[in-house]
Amino acid sequence: MSATNAQVRDVGSPPRGADQTELHPDLNRAHVRFINLGKTYDGRVHALQGIDLAIQRGEVFGIIGRSGAGKSSLIRTINRLEQPSSGRVLIDQVDIGEYDEDHLVALRRRIGMIFQHFNLMSAKTVWQNVELPLKVAGVPKPQREQKVRELLELVGLQDKHKAYPAQLSGGQKQRVGIARSLVHDPQILLCDEATSALDPETTQSILGLLREINKRLGLTIVLITHEMAVIREICDRVVVLEHGCIVEQGPVWQVFGNPRHVVSKTLLAPLQHGLPDELQSRLQPTPLSPEAAVVLRLQFTGSDTEEPDLAALFSALGGRVRLLQGGVERIQGHALGQLLLAVSGSPHGAEELRSRAGNWAQQAEVLGYVV
Ligand SMILES: Nc1ncnc2c1ncn2[C@@H]1O[C@H](COP(=O)(O)OP(=O)(O)OP(=O)(O)O)[C@@H](O)[C@H]1O
Ligand SMILES: [Mg+2]
Repeated sequence: MSATNAQVRDVGSPPRGADQTELHPDLNRAHVRFINLGKTYDGRVHALQGIDLAIQRGEVFGIIGRSGAGKSSLIRTINRLEQPSSGRVLIDQVDIGEYDEDHLVALRRRIGMIFQHFNLMSAKTVWQNVELPLKVAGVPKPQREQKVRELLELVGLQDKHKAYPAQLSGGQKQRVGIARSLVHDPQILLCDEATSALDPETTQSILGLLREINKRLGLTIVLITHEMAVIREICDRVVVLEHGCIVEQGPVWQVFGNPRHVVSKTLLAPLQHGLPDELQSRLQPTPLSPEAAVVLRLQFTGSDTEEPDLAALFSALGGRVRLLQGGVERIQGHALGQLLLAVSGSPHGAEELRSRAGNWAQQAEVLGYVV
């Protein structure tokens, strides 16, 4: 067997338990619930329509969709930065539409938020940036100092407390943003493209920090990103928005393993391996010679948690099996990916090979023949 482009990856944290990944929205215990939510701007832009969704306490919940799909509008109704035009938002079963100004101030303290461009005060030091919301809330100095110290330690910026934002890297600025968002011990953290301005390595460290906060503090995290790898890495469940409507939702392994809606398929396409150009150009719909190899595509969509047993698979196919391309990764303990195999010299015909391959993968198809 020759491997031209093989990879086996283990993405992210150890499998989160079934109680987290398989959460069925229990509406009566939802942390955040949207009921028939709608948002119209200027009486004509329908940014959100008929959104029914439940986010469970302690989960990391992802929102994806194309630009303009309504992601930011949706997340901003959770802390009432955006007023819905219709429908309701419930937090801990309480309708926040009923809240007066005082209740809204209290609500926003229970909900932290971080942004793509950090929104730090450039004339204030790291320490002052984190301390400011506590000052505004009238928290006495000794408590303020203790809280700021604690949070700077949590985000790993103890040594930078005297620095100004301009003296920090993007990742460090976002760490300040995270520390500031946690000053009032919120129960929910909203992240709108929080890693989009960061390089991949820094993104990894910020995701690690968010995961730690989610686990250690039990925070519910609602996260918008256009980086599908971020969702795959950290989220328990994901919802896909299009034109202000929900088109798909479910556990990440399920939506990523077998996206059903065309928008989800498009968004997730960069994570999927297509056929290499060189192979595509050589592929024939019928065998041109008796030596032609059958090209099979095996897809693993995660409904089986076991990785494929390659020795057993190859022996069932018979003949000479070459790995053309492929990889399997694990998301929330489920094996996802695809293998492209070229089988030659097998006693079995193409249809029989497809059928046999189907015993090892959720989907198996014959793509064609190569010499
Ligand atoms: N303040 C506003 N006034 C008028 N229209 C708005 C306003 N905010 C958003 N919109 C419109 O509502 C729709 C949804 O916008 P929203 O910002 O929620 O999308 P998004 O999914 O966050 O997009 P992106 O990925 O580009 O951030 C878009 O058509 C947008 O132009
Ligand atoms: Mg947005």
